Amino acid sequence: MKPWPPEGYRWYREACEMFDYPARAFGEPLKALISSADTVLDIGCGIGVASRMIAPWCKRIIALDSDGNALRQLEAEALRCGITNIETANDSWPEGKLIQTDIIIALHVCRAMRKFDNLKLVFERAKRGGFIASNASCSLSEEPFGELNAALGIAHNPCPCANGCYIKGVLDTLGAHVTCAKVVYDFGQPLDTLDEALRFIRWQIGADESAAQTVEKYVDRYIVRFGNRYLVPITRQSCGITFLK
Ligand SMILES: C[S@@+](CC[C@H](N)C(=O)[O-])C[C@H]1O[C@@H](n2cnc3c(N)ncnc32)[C@H](O)[C@@H]1O
Repeated sequence: MKPWPPEGYRWYREACEMFDYPARAFGEPLKALISSADTVLDIGCGIGVASRMIAPWCKRIIALDSDGNALRQLEAEALRCGITNIETANDSWPEGKLIQTDIIIALHVCRAMRKFDNLKLVFERAKRGGFIASNASCSLSEEPFGELNAALGIAHNPCPCANGCYIKGVLDTLGAHVTCAKVVYDFGQPLDTLDEALRFIRWQIGADESAAQTVEKYVDRYIVRFGNRYLVPITRQSCGITFLK
């Protein structure tokens, strides 16, 4: 994953608030999966938007991430909201203690969910089932910042398909009952200034300072004004994969 810029956590939190992520994209299957007596492991929880959403639906959540800064954001936000059933674990999964929980979720932790052994561990360690979200493929015309990438000579599809079909196939093979759906949802980025919008776009496409002038030339295609702020509209596509044992 690209390293977060200093303002990345705030950008992400504001995007989640504006576009109601993950409730709008994955709220329904997650609510259907989780019961009030469950302990849930949230692998790659990031700043904890999913953990905070499901906190009222279950007994206990272990929110695990290798990024300690993201976990500190989660802890501060949980404290602010009076949420007391989330424990954080600063680990790189599957290293560390692999406890069993009723449910395991992993939203967009694509690299870790690409390996057979890791998927097998998810299957084995989840007592009842789980939910995995992974980036889905998109066509050239749907690709965020496609024209800009072409102008910079950046190869097609900076957010490649994370192979949800493979995840489904492995879980099927292991004996799980699997259902999956492609989810298309708005998840754009609100930003305070034009300069922030330029930095955000550069970060998204993985371009460095040397691309600044080209990004500036194309920026009007990718931003809209709202009030005295800016929005970079983005449509995301993911596979939502539910499994039950
Ligand atoms: C794209 S973010 C998704 C965050 C969150 N699940 C969400 O949907 O908002 C991926 C997160 O997974 C974490 N991550 C990636 N690989 C990991 C691993 N092997 N163990 C623990 N955390 C991991 C990253 O640090 C990052 O916070």
